[in-house]
Amino acid sequence: MNKQKRQAVIAGNWKMNKTRPEAKALIEQLKPLVKDADCGVVICVPYTNLETALEAVKGSNIKVGAENCHWAKSGAFTGEISAEMLAEMGVEYVVIGHSERRQYFGETDQTVNQRVRAALDAGLRVILCVGELLEQREQGITEEICAMQTKIALGGVTKEELSRIIIAYEPVWAIGTGKTATAEQADEVNGLIRSVVAKLYGEEAAQALTVQYGGSMNAKNAQELLDKEHVDGGLIGGASLKAEDFSIIVKAASR
Ligand code: 13P
Repeated sequence: MNKQKRQAVIAGNWKMNKTRPEAKALIEQLKPLVKDADCGVVICVPYTNLETALEAVKGSNIKVGAENCHWAKSGAFTGEISAEMLAEMGVEYVVIGHSERRQYFGETDQTVNQRVRAALDAGLRVILCVGELLEQREQGITEEICAMQTKIALGGVTKEELSRIIIAYEPVWAIGTGKTATAEQADEVNGLIRSVVAKLYGEEAAQALTVQYGGSMNAKNAQELLDKEHVDGGLIGGASLKAEDFSIIVKAASR
């Protein structure tokens, strides 16, 4: 199996952007632009936009995801949302372990693993984010960091469940900075992540895994990144807030 046989998935991560009317308008703009996509198209939106998004994407090829979920099924966790709550709404995807959660909200490899487990148990598909900080890249420990984050996050995940996981390599220094990893850097680390998964689950499962790149991917640089063997799609921040730009990235991933 090779890249041609893996599903390319372009996912937008809207982060903390868009009111409900703005969300609806963006989705209405996006729908005709991506209707012929030959890749998966996902938009991960703030909790407050989930219902609006689910309604707006009906009958289209766009899937909806949340940006996080808690690990417990329910309970005294003020301000949190469970995976079950998302699944019950009809949400299909959830982003877990984004570097902004790790950086600003105390997310650890262990809580990432717990959230992954909860999401899988609720029947969701997971976009699992891993990636090194700038100082870690400069120290030459990118491989170790990404391998460790991947292994810990996948603890207790079965081979069958792996088919509901996408891994997004997002070098923290490339997020929102306009500094994209070169296509070679992205390919190298995506390939490394695939080899870590191969050791855990076997070569066939690893070859079938969608590994995205994220970090300042945009309409201009997407094609070069997506042409690489191990770059099976993108997790798009800023450029996912503009329908035209996002659709150009979707087209670049379609084949
Ligand atoms: P940008 O595309 O804005 O750099 O964000 C990337 C990202 O964090 C997607 O999850």
